[in-house]
Amino acid sequence: MQDLIKKINQLMHERNAVILVHNYQIPEVQELADFLGDSLGLSIEAAKTKADVIVFCGVNFMAETAKILSPQKKVIMPDLNAGCPMADMVNADQVRELKKKHPGAAVVTYVNSSAAVKAESDICCTSANGVKVVKSLKAKEIIFVPDKYLGHYISTQVPEKKFIFWNGYCPSHMRIMPDDVISAKKEHPEAYVMVHPECRPEVIELADAALSTSQMIKKAGEIKNNEFIIGTETGILYTLHKKYPDKKFYPASEKCICPNMKLTTAEKVLFALEDMKNEITVPKEIADKARSAIEKMIKIV
Ligand code: 13P
Ligand code: SF4
Repeated sequence: MQDLIKKINQLMHERNAVILVHNYQIPEVQELADFLGDSLGLSIEAAKTKADVIVFCGVNFMAETAKILSPQKKVIMPDLNAGCPMADMVNADQVRELKKKHPGAAVVTYVNSSAAVKAESDICCTSANGVKVVKSLKAKEIIFVPDKYLGHYISTQVPEKKFIFWNGYCPSHMRIMPDDVISAKKEHPEAYVMVHPECRPEVIELADAALSTSQMIKKAGEIKNNEFIIGTETGILYTLHKKYPDKKFYPASEKCICPNMKLTTAEKVLFALEDMKNEITVPKEIADKARSAIEKMIKIV
């Protein structure tokens, strides 16, 4: 492994590259990160990096967002098969149909979506800023795509607006059931419960907070509690244990695993850097429209 890391570092230097890594990646990939974060943090970092090359260790929509924000940079992914099933649950034609049906509504698109869907939107949001984004809009009616659960969670925080939801969801977060949280709470009655807003509403209701992945990492350091139940993809537990070795973290369900997030390995990072293959491209017309929706979101943060 040491040899592999040495080679990666050498190529990073030669290519003037940065490695951006999502909190769900496997430990060996998290260890390679120049920047480790949630979707929002990664978007901000992609927009401001001075590097020529971005090696994106996450899923397609995240690398696409990086390319849209930094069109002059080369964005590569160690494994192009790393997609997001939720992002594939809505397409641009379907959003256009919704807009026709609800002409006065603003389209708020979760970043877990294709560039073409973002291009049809008024503004994007992530799990970290969804409530803030929706509150910032003048429109009384909101078309929210694709995640019905994140949309529902935001609607509970902004009851003054009317929401039109799409039937998208994350198959990994769906695996966390209310009974899982109830049993974890019985076993660890002192634990603070943090879940991702992609979870089912009945799971969110049982939690102390619904937070993005980086917000969970921050919260664990801010509050006095020593025990936490974590309702999100289990890859995040590596960072939590590493950052707070004296605190205890229990997954709400071991079943919440995103197979796509697990496709990237340190070896694939090396291969991508050696061959400069797996480049992410977005057609200019789509990228320009999508950029406007993403930049509007970043301004609100
Ligand atoms: P975060 O933006 O909270 O990191 O979440 C991304 C994601 O894909 C959750 O499943
Ligand atoms: Fe998509 Fe769910 Fe995987 Fe996140 S955890 S990338 S929403 S499938």
